[in-house]
Amino acid sequence: MKIIQRKVNQKQTKTKNKNKKDIKSNNNILNKIKIAKVNNYVSKTAKIGKNVKIWHFAYVGDNTIIGDNVMVGSLSHIDYNVKIGDNTRIEGSVYIPPLTVIGNNVFIAPGATFTNDPYPMSPKMIGVTVQDGAIIAARAVIKPGVTIGKNAVVGMGAVVTKDVPSETVVIGNPARIKYSRKEYDEKKSLWEDPNS
Ligand SMILES: CC(C)(COP(=O)(O)OP(=O)(O)OC[C@H]1O[C@@H](n2cnc3c(N)ncnc32)[C@H](O)[C@@H]1OP(=O)(O)O)[C@@H](O)C(=O)NCCC(=O)NCCS
Repeated sequence: MKIIQRKVNQKQTKTKNKNKKDIKSNNNILNKIKIAKVNNYVSKTAKIGKNVKIWHFAYVGDNTIIGDNVMVGSLSHIDYNVKIGDNTRIEGSVYIPPLTVIGNNVFIAPGATFTNDPYPMSPKMIGVTVQDGAIIAARAVIKPGVTIGKNAVVGMGAVVTKDVPSETVVIGNPARIKYSRKEYDEKKSLWEDPNS
């Protein structure tokens, strides 16, 4: 009788230990998931301003400078030696290579791609410059060395091969001027007007 009771006790202890192990292992997995949820990579040598949000799985490389109130969306890749001004918003999956200079109050929509190597793979590279207030729509691609002028708008899917003058809207492949920023702002106001 005593032997049977001892065996039962041993079995119960084994089950308890197994449950403890399972709980510990589940907690480890949960912790890993929690860590993954807030994971991004920002180089220790990058200078990041005040009130900057860098979302999940985004990457910021060495010596990159990001101003105040900037948002960087998930999966965006901002390489080394990039400059980004204040109040700029970069949506998800944007690619920004070394030497890109982006001004203040710029909006960059999802999937936009900046380039810096005109004839890959070359050690000689030249970055894109985006001046203050410009808007780059989704999936636009910008040629190395191009300047997007102040308050210019680059339409979705545009392939920009030449400098874009300030205050203009360009669309297409290759991108061409379609209308002015003033007309864009008028269209935007009309769109936002609840009575229109
Ligand atoms: C540039 C942009 C504002 C133009 O929109 P729009 O002024 O409403 O243009 P319309 O729809 O009136 O089109 C005018 C003409 O241009 C063409 N067109 C419009 N946008 C175009 C674009 N991005 N590329 C090529 N052609 C375009 C239209 O087909 C139309 O051609 P048609 O006259 O031969 O019929 C718009 O294309 C855009 O990029 N919006 C931003 C979208 C975005 O990325 N948002 C942020 C992330 S959610």
